[in-house]
Amino acid sequence: MDSRLSATARAHPNIALIKYWGNRDEALRLPANASISFNLSGLETITSVAFEPRLTADSLEIDGLPAQGAAAERVVRHLDHIRALSGQRARARVVSRSNFPAGTGIASSASAFAALTVAACAACGLSLPEDHLSRIARLGSGSAARSIPDGFVALETGARDEQAFAHSLAAHTHWDLVDCIALVSREPKSVGSSEGHRRAATSPLQLARVEDAPRRLEACRRAIQEKDLLTLGEVVEQDCLLMHSVMMTSRPSLLYWLPVTVHILHQVREWRSHGLAAACTIDAGPNVHCLCEAASLEQVVSGLSHIPGVGEVIVCHPAPGATRIS
Ligand code: DP6
Repeated sequence: MDSRLSATARAHPNIALIKYWGNRDEALRLPANASISFNLSGLETITSVAFEPRLTADSLEIDGLPAQGAAAERVVRHLDHIRALSGQRARARVVSRSNFPAGTGIASSASAFAALTVAACAACGLSLPEDHLSRIARLGSGSAARSIPDGFVALETGARDEQAFAHSLAAHTHWDLVDCIALVSREPKSVGSSEGHRRAATSPLQLARVEDAPRRLEACRRAIQEKDLLTLGEVVEQDCLLMHSVMMTSRPSLLYWLPVTVHILHQVREWRSHGLAAACTIDAGPNVHCLCEAASLEQVVSGLSHIPGVGEVIVCHPAPGATRIS
């Protein structure tokens, strides 16, 4: 293999503290509102890309299996975009592996498209600044834009491609905010995020959610800066409930929660009323992300693990952005 035409990259998924839901432009994946997240340590996708002039079609292996159907088309479209930018015409061999389940509300598409973007751009000799890599990753999956920069990250938006890129608000070493993910299901979700984004505008609540987003973003930015978990928790829970209200009131309605999802929300509220500093957020799936600081980690993990229906608790700390590893 010609090493000048191949590269490997690592990216972490991220958890959104202020969610994006709905696109103002579907083709460009320009989010309806800006969002804030942090990258998750321990969970990762490692992707190798090699452009091989002898291949007649892109060859894609995801988690040990050949990619097929819509998932494969989405990757090929992404490679086409990078080929068009770089002038590279060869087809690519892509091997991608994640160490966590896809499609269950841990943003597997985020780490997948961030790693693919960094590896494919490097393999075809494109040396781009971080904001441009983030824009390219966004075309593959909106939240992937946020897995490119380090640590705590904001994804800006706008009416044009150049306005929608992510940047780091604080390094991953800034604050040891811990995400304890209570896994209640490993089943892939029945309706994916891309379809969910298309439904967002059918909810009468979406406009109110988007209009109030600047206030929530500012409160979140400040809470991260000041490492203020109490303020962060309030705005994060409100933002999550706003997004799920939009999902539930879309046509057709989307209900990602399971009974145990609601049970965990009640439990965390109860613990909080007894002085435990913790807050919940939920992506497009039934799993609950419980945020806390190192001092209460043991208590949170033990509490979550004892809830019937919680299969596993995955503990993630803030992580760096996507990087080329070879
Ligand atoms: C609920 O980035 O998964 O996680 O662009 O269709 O891949 P696609 O959507 P995706 O949407 C993320 C939705 C969310 C909220 C968030 O991460 O901001």
